[in-house]
Amino acid sequence: MAKRNWRVGVAGLGTVGAGLLKFLTEQPGFAPAGGQVTVSGVSARSRSRPRTVDIAGYAWFDDPVALASSPDTDLFVELIGGSDGPAKAAVEAALKLGKPVVTANKALIAEHGAELAALAEANNVPLLFEAAVMGGTPAVKMLREAMVGDDVTAVAGILNGTCNYILTEMEAGSRPFAEVLAEAQARGYAEADPTMDIGGFDAAHKITILAALAFRCAPNYAAAEVEGVDQVELLDIKLARDLGYRIRLVASATRTAEGVSVRVHPSLAPLGHPLAETRGALNALFIEGARIGRIFIQGPGAGSGPTAAAVAADIADVMTGAVRPVFQAPAGTLMPFIALDAAHRTGKAYIRLLVKDQAGTIAAVSETLAEVGVSIDSFLQKPVEDAGVAPIVLTTHITPESVVLEAVERIAALPAVLERPKMFRIARI
Ligand SMILES: NC(=O)c1ccc[n+]([C@@H]2O[C@H](COP(=O)([O-])OP(=O)(O)OC[C@H]3O[C@@H](n4cnc5c(N)ncnc54)[C@H](OP(=O)(O)O)[C@@H]3O)[C@@H](O)[C@H]2O)c1
Repeated sequence: MAKRNWRVGVAGLGTVGAGLLKFLTEQPGFAPAGGQVTVSGVSARSRSRPRTVDIAGYAWFDDPVALASSPDTDLFVELIGGSDGPAKAAVEAALKLGKPVVTANKALIAEHGAELAALAEANNVPLLFEAAVMGGTPAVKMLREAMVGDDVTAVAGILNGTCNYILTEMEAGSRPFAEVLAEAQARGYAEADPTMDIGGFDAAHKITILAALAFRCAPNYAAAEVEGVDQVELLDIKLARDLGYRIRLVASATRTAEGVSVRVHPSLAPLGHPLAETRGALNALFIEGARIGRIFIQGPGAGSGPTAAAVAADIADVMTGAVRPVFQAPAGTLMPFIALDAAHRTGKAYIRLLVKDQAGTIAAVSETLAEVGVSIDSFLQKPVEDAGVAPIVLTTHITPESVVLEAVERIAALPAVLERPKMFRIARI
C-alpha cells in the first residue's frame, strides 16, 4: 500500500477537521515513511460558514458519502461525529470501496465498531481511530499495538476533560456544580448541550473502545454502566477531601474469569494518587497487564491541535502500509462481551446521608449496615447545618457491590434520613 502521494478527503471541518487542515497545509510531508498528503476535497454542513482555515482551494462536497466515494479520494478522514447518520454512511462507503479510513468518532466506534471492523477487514483496509480516545494522548495505539504481548486485566482513568475541569473548579473555588458548568459553557469548555460529557456517555464510549482493544472482545456500549458528574455536590467534594480523597469521574474496564465490566462512575481517589492529582481538562489512564505490570499515561484529551496530531499519526500509519486488525484481534475472533453482574463486583464505598439531628439516628444507620453485612471503615458526622440537618459520611471496607446497594436502599427508607443517600465508589486503581 506504500504510495508517494495520498489524496485525503476530510469530512467535518469543526474543531478537529480545521486543526487537521491547518496541520496538513503546514506539514504535508510529515509522514516518517515519506510521501506527501494532499487534500482531495472537504465536506461539512455549510459551505459558507466562516472558518478558521481557508477552504477556498479545496474541492467541496455537500455529501460526505460522495467525498468518500470520489475516485480522487485515496484515504477518507471522518471528523463529523455521531454514531449514525452521515458519519457512518460515509465510513461504510469508503471501506466498501477498499479505502482506508481514519476517524476521531468515539460514538461510531463504540456503537458500531464490530461491524465496521468486519467490513474493514473483509476489504483488507485499515480503520484507525487513535483520536477517538484521549485526543492527542496515544491510548489506542498503546493497547492495540504495544500490549499485544501481554494480557491486559484492567484499564481505568479519566477520559472526559470537561468533567475533570468541572470537578477541579468546584473544589478550587468552592463553587456548586451548576455555576461551574455555566461558566465552562460560556468559555467554550463545555458544549451548549453538555449531556454527553456530564452524563458520562462520552467517557462510556471511550472506555467501551478501550475495553475491546484491551480484552479482544467486541465493543458493547449497551453493556456499559454509566453515571455522570451531575449528581456530585460541593458538599461531597468537601467531605471526600476531609476523608483524604478527591472525586473524579473514573471510567474503568475490568476482565475477570466471570466476565467483563465496563463502567463510568464518580469515584473517590486518595489525595496524592495520580488520578486525584490529574487536574483541569487533562486525561489520564492506567493500563494493568499480567506481564508488563502497570502503565500510566496522562495528557490532553481534546482540542484542535492535540486531536489533529492523533489523526495525522493514523494517516502516517496508513502511509506506511501496515494493516492490523481493527481491534487487537481479527473481527471474526473477537470474544463475546459477557457483562459482569454486581454480585461479582467488590469494592469500598463512600455513603453520605443528610439526617435529622435527633437521638438514635446514628444507631439506626449502624444497625442497618450491620444487618446487610457492610462493615464500616470510617465514620464522620459534621456539625448540624440549617434547620437541624446533619451530614453523615461513612466509608466501607471491601464489600460486594450488591450488598452496598442494598444497604443504601434500606438506609434511604429510615425515617430520620432526609434524602436518598449519595453513594460513590472508592477507586481501586
Ligand atoms: N473536539 C475535540 O477536541 C475532539 C477530541 C477527540 C475526538 N473528537 C471527535 O472528533 C469528531 C469531530 O469533533 P469536533 O469537535 O471537530 O466537532 P465539531 O466542531 O462540531 O465539527 C463537526 C463538523 O462536522 C460537520 N458536519 C455536521 N453534520 C454534517 C453533515 N451532515 N455532513 C457533513 N458535515 C457535517 C460540521 O459542519 P459545519 O461546520 O458546517 O457545521 C462541522 O464542520 C467527533 O466525532 C468528536 O467526538 C473531538
